[in-house]
Amino acid sequence: MNTANQSIKPITTKINDKGHIEIGGCDTVELAEKYGTPLYVYDEETIRTMARQYKEAFKDYPKVSMLYASKAFMTKAVVRILDEEGFGFDLVSGGEIYTAHTAGADMKKCLFNGNNKSYDELEMAINVGIGLISVDNFLELALLDNAAKAAGKSVDILLRVTPGIECHTHEYIQTGHLDSKFGFDLTQVDEAVELIKDEHKNLNLVGLHAHIGSQIFETQIYYDEVDVLLKEMARIKEKFGINLTHINLGGGLGIKYTDSDCPPSVYEIAEKILTSIKDNAKKYNMQEPEIHIEPGRSIIGTSGVTLYTAGSSKQVPKGRKYVAVDGGMADNPRPSLYQAVYTADVANKANLEPEEKVTIAGRFCESGDILINEISLPELEEGDILCFYNTGAYGYSMSSNYNRVLKPAAVLVNNSQSDIIIDRESYEHLVSLDVIPDRIKKA
Ligand code: LLP
Repeated sequence: MNTANQSIKPITTKINDKGHIEIGGCDTVELAEKYGTPLYVYDEETIRTMARQYKEAFKDYPKVSMLYASKAFMTKAVVRILDEEGFGFDLVSGGEIYTAHTAGADMKKCLFNGNNKSYDELEMAINVGIGLISVDNFLELALLDNAAKAAGKSVDILLRVTPGIECHTHEYIQTGHLDSKFGFDLTQVDEAVELIKDEHKNLNLVGLHAHIGSQIFETQIYYDEVDVLLKEMARIKEKFGINLTHINLGGGLGIKYTDSDCPPSVYEIAEKILTSIKDNAKKYNMQEPEIHIEPGRSIIGTSGVTLYTAGSSKQVPKGRKYVAVDGGMADNPRPSLYQAVYTADVANKANLEPEEKVTIAGRFCESGDILINEISLPELEEGDILCFYNTGAYGYSMSSNYNRVLKPAAVLVNNSQSDIIIDRESYEHLVSLDVIPDRIKKA
């Protein structure tokens, strides 16, 4: 059975009788008129469907927890939706902890992650009652032990390890290979366990955590990841007599950005993971563990599109035709950062056949700000609305104010209703943190 990550478009996408793209029952051309562009549009039904497909895929395994990797896109409304769906949250900063907590997430279901957490952030995590902390390194073991002691609490932890598994994705988003900045090398685990046992008395080690990478299309590596983690747990039990009960497998399931992308379904991933647990728990003679899965992109990516308005164009003599839009690398840095390829349609000409090859350029002051290199589209005119698919993950969350351009708004659509979930920035917001020291103030 297919899952939503295998679709390029949000699952409610249609062409309406005006020949416009409709998402969540809303005409995207009308959304662009009402809210302005660039505009991020999130389809609630796609988010909830994907969340439910994750739960469904693992339903035969009673000891599973789903954590949404908030870094993919976090706003209070998204926290509410995924909290309602029973998800916890993988959080990686004080800002993400604050957002989850103030939006009413169940903090016991949350995990605090990251390779350089500050003492203040660790303190905050303890104070708001985060259920688990994934400890990345030796410094953090000591800092967290101090923070737990100061709070008079014992803290449940996982050890983040690098399992030595390479996946075929962009090198910037590979994380599980041996020469990685994340986590303990497997050869350092014994020293960490000894420290926890003998010195860091406020830490309670419950399991291991790994994350192999992101935008993954292979399934076998999840089987291998479970194998590596269970083997390590069996070794720790044998050597230290400590019975670890949890493994967190990270996220990483890919989504379909273009026709040639073929990500597996969640069911295929779940099948590999659960088979590996069965096989390897038996092989290492241990109890089947509690598992945590932390998907980000595959939960939110497909649900989101970005609407832009076409502006100036330029036909380079004997070269490409460029059409510029009113956004670009500041609202979606992925094409310039990872050479990511996107698919787009003209929202107000959805019934028309492609007529020309154009390169969609961003509005930012860099030659590298190209959103799509050569796509066939109906003839583009100034004022047309472009709909870029699959911008829901790592778009807004990695956006910037480069060139002092305002960050776009985001709306949530469902059942023909649209609601703002992030306001568009204003020029007042933009300068609100600027301070002019008295001595250089204009008299
Ligand atoms: N867990 C951990 C520990 C992670 O580091 C990540 C992502 C996830 C879960 C979620 O992975 P996902 O399911 O979203 O693949 N900015 C890059 C992606 C960076 C991913 C970082 N870690 C991009 O735009 O492709």
